[in-house]
Parts: sequence; C-alpha cells; structure tokens
Amino acid sequence: MNSTKIKQFKVEFDNFSYVIICIKTNKVAIVDPSYDASKILEYIISNNLKLQYIIITHYHGDHSNASNQVKNTIPSKIITSKYDGAKLDVDVDITVSDNDQLRLGEVNLKFILTPGHTLGGICIIVDNEAIITGDTLFIGDCGRTDLPGGNIEQMFRTLKEKIIPLPDHLIVYPGHDYGDKPFDTLGNQKRTNKTLLAKNLDEFSKIP
Ligand SMILES: [Fe+2]
Repeated sequence: MNSTKIKQFKVEFDNFSYVIICIKTNKVAIVDPSYDASKILEYIISNNLKLQYIIITHYHGDHSNASNQVKNTIPSKIITSKYDGAKLDVDVDITVSDNDQLRLGEVNLKFILTPGHTLGGICIIVDNEAIITGDTLFIGDCGRTDLPGGNIEQMFRTLKEKIIPLPDHLIVYPGHDYGDKPFDTLGNQKRTNKTLLAKNLDEFSKIP
C-alpha cells in the first residue's frame, strides 16, 4: 500500500480490531474496538498517531464494547450505520449509508452496507487496496445469520451482489480469526470460500 497501512490486533480469543493508518499524515481510525483497547491505545499514543475515527462494523458487543474506552481516552468520532447505530449504547457521531466515502488524511474510506449478519452491518474499503469485513466475510466462511439481526437471504444477496463484484486484489481483513490465515486476497476467497462459491440460496442454506 502506498499511503495506507492496516494493523491487525487480536483481542480476547479470536476477535480482530484494526488500526487504519494514513502514513503521510499519521491520522488513524480504529475499527471494532472491543474488550480491552489498551494495547491499541498504547500503539497509537507511542507512535504519535492522531486518532480521528472509531468505526463500528456492526452493533454486536464483541465489535464495539471498547468504543467508549477509546473515545474517553482520545476524543474521536464514532462512525457506524444508522440501523446498527440505533442499537448501540454509545453516542454515534457520524452515520454512513451505502457507498458513502470519507477521508482519513489522504486515505479514502468507502463504506458499503452489507446486511445479513446484522441489518446495518458495514464493510470498509480502504483506498481500493483492502476491505475490512467485520462479521460479513471471514476467511473461508461468512458471518452467522442465526444471531440477533441476522437474515440468511440478505447475507446471500450481500455476498453475491456486494462482495463478489469487488476486485480480486483487495485484501480481506475479517472480524474474527476463524480461517487458516488471518487475512487473504478477495480473489483467493472467491476461489476457495464455500460461502462465495454457493450458486443459489438453496445451496447456500445447506452449507454446514
Ligand atoms: Fe457479530
């Protein structure tokens, strides 16, 4: 990546939080701070990085429950979708809709609405280089649709209509470490991920 760096942090057992860094300006965003954000805050403070945004991919606690810890330590703006924002017990500063874009220094953040795991789940495309997928897409799998907010038909449509059309070179950074590697190219996932290979809803619904 030219102007962007994405740092992956494993928290609790298998959750991933991320720091998106604009190398040219030192401006950063945290994605999905949860459980204990101390290490991430330490990383930001010790590297003199300037936190701008806290982005929450979806409202489940294991992706959001350290948001207030972060915001209380470093004033910053919380971003999420309107639907999932309404379910959070944090004050959301910016709500994003499908295809909204935002600058993080010189880095472009594009938000896509990806319902299925939750109605207001979002993925973040970073500088047309990477996509942070929350619990929409994992390495080798997709997010569960049987938890609160989930819908299997929406998930199938999201994968078919929103994820598969994206370019192969994007690096997929998932919300959990469930795969055989912590991240992968979307191209590899299109060739190997059973949930992206399902041809129709019937086939998709039978995936164990
Ligand atoms: Fe979730």
